[in-house]
Amino acid sequence: MDLLEYQARDQFEKYGVPVLPGRIATTPAEARAAYAELDTDIVVIKAQVRTGGRGKAGGVKLARGEEAVEKTAAEILGLDIKGHTVETVMLSPGADIQDEYYFSILLDRAAGGFLAMCSIEGGMDIETLAVERPEALVKTPIDPVEGITAAVAERIATDAGFLAEDHRPVGEVMQKLWTVFKASDATLVEVNPLVKTGNGEILALDGKMTIDGNAAFRHEEWAQYADSAGDVDLEKQARELDLNYVKLDGSIGVIGNGAGLVMSSLDVVAGAGADLPGSPKPANFLDIGGGASAAVMANGLRIIMSDPQVRSVFVNIFGGITACNDVANGIVHALDILGDEARLPIVVRLDGNSVEVGKAILAEANHPLITVKNTMDEAARAAAQLAAEGN
Ligand SMILES: Nc1ncnc2c1ncn2[C@@H]1O[C@H](COP(=O)(O)OP(=O)(O)OP(=O)(O)O)[C@@H](O)[C@H]1O
Ligand SMILES: [Mg+2]
Repeated sequence: MDLLEYQARDQFEKYGVPVLPGRIATTPAEARAAYAELDTDIVVIKAQVRTGGRGKAGGVKLARGEEAVEKTAAEILGLDIKGHTVETVMLSPGADIQDEYYFSILLDRAAGGFLAMCSIEGGMDIETLAVERPEALVKTPIDPVEGITAAVAERIATDAGFLAEDHRPVGEVMQKLWTVFKASDATLVEVNPLVKTGNGEILALDGKMTIDGNAAFRHEEWAQYADSAGDVDLEKQARELDLNYVKLDGSIGVIGNGAGLVMSSLDVVAGAGADLPGSPKPANFLDIGGGASAAVMANGLRIIMSDPQVRSVFVNIFGGITACNDVANGIVHALDILGDEARLPIVVRLDGNSVEVGKAILAEANHPLITVKNTMDEAARAAAQLAAEGN
């Protein structure tokens, strides 16, 4: 589950990472009141959405004076940033930034451990930096037992090229961020920018955190995050319908039967989208399991189509005990059940038991939203193409 910036800020504060005061607001009037509470001259008003690149999308702005704050908040609230509508903004005092750095800790699945990444050239262009000058982004594997000790932090600061005088204060922040990472069962803690102010203070000005949902049982306090997480809402709805659904960040909905088939569908879809405009990616994992009845299919399609980021749906079925004709009937009836709710193109690939009968049923139905493809590759490509075109 991804936290919003202000929620990450709260976690940082709890573990002693230096942050600025923050106040949230959901209306321009609340923003005005928050500004008065902060009792400062210039504030930064920041969109609280679960996606990066807010600054470039006009979601981070400075303002001075009550009128300007109210007006700027009104501009940011309601903004659409990569498919996320801004419902909340955070106000913080303007900082006197001298330098911007980058620091993150993440779970490195491939290496089976943790990784710290650091650069003295942080800020909004870190993605470009990582691609164009990867050597400027120092990567340090972190031993999960040892963690980030003073010695490890010192090494990171040295490798990244911090001035000698900054090693200790920056290192202390790194150690505290490790505590946040561990205590919060996070898979990502990212600070961009970590800044040095005019008077030499080190501050985390922006925080991004992903917490591991599998650890929810030992974090009662996470319930508050789930309530505010629009995307996690979909997962909750899916759970109530007994669907095996995991929300991802892309625009191609994926439905399959069997976890293995769905996993490989995600890979194939991501591969198919890689070279297309906007590189469309899978929007979710959804395994509808064995008995792909019309009701289950309808529930699955409904969940997927209520994700505002989704532009196309890929249905990948291998008929086994539940034969393709049952699945085909399931799809057709699901579309009957959904009526106008079904609004996106669906690319279907059927194979296995009774595949010809299944295809005949879909051909017979001749539904305007359905396209049938013979192979998984063709179907994935068609779904990715539709997503790239925005249908
Ligand atoms: N309190 C502040 N005072 C002055 N400038 C700020 C403050 N907070 C952020 N900024 C400036 O705005 C830039 C963008 O802010 P921030 O990092 O929060 O958003 P972003 O990088 O666009 O978002 P994301 O990290 O989601 O891509 C920072 O790099 C920094 O230069
Ligand atoms: Mg940032």
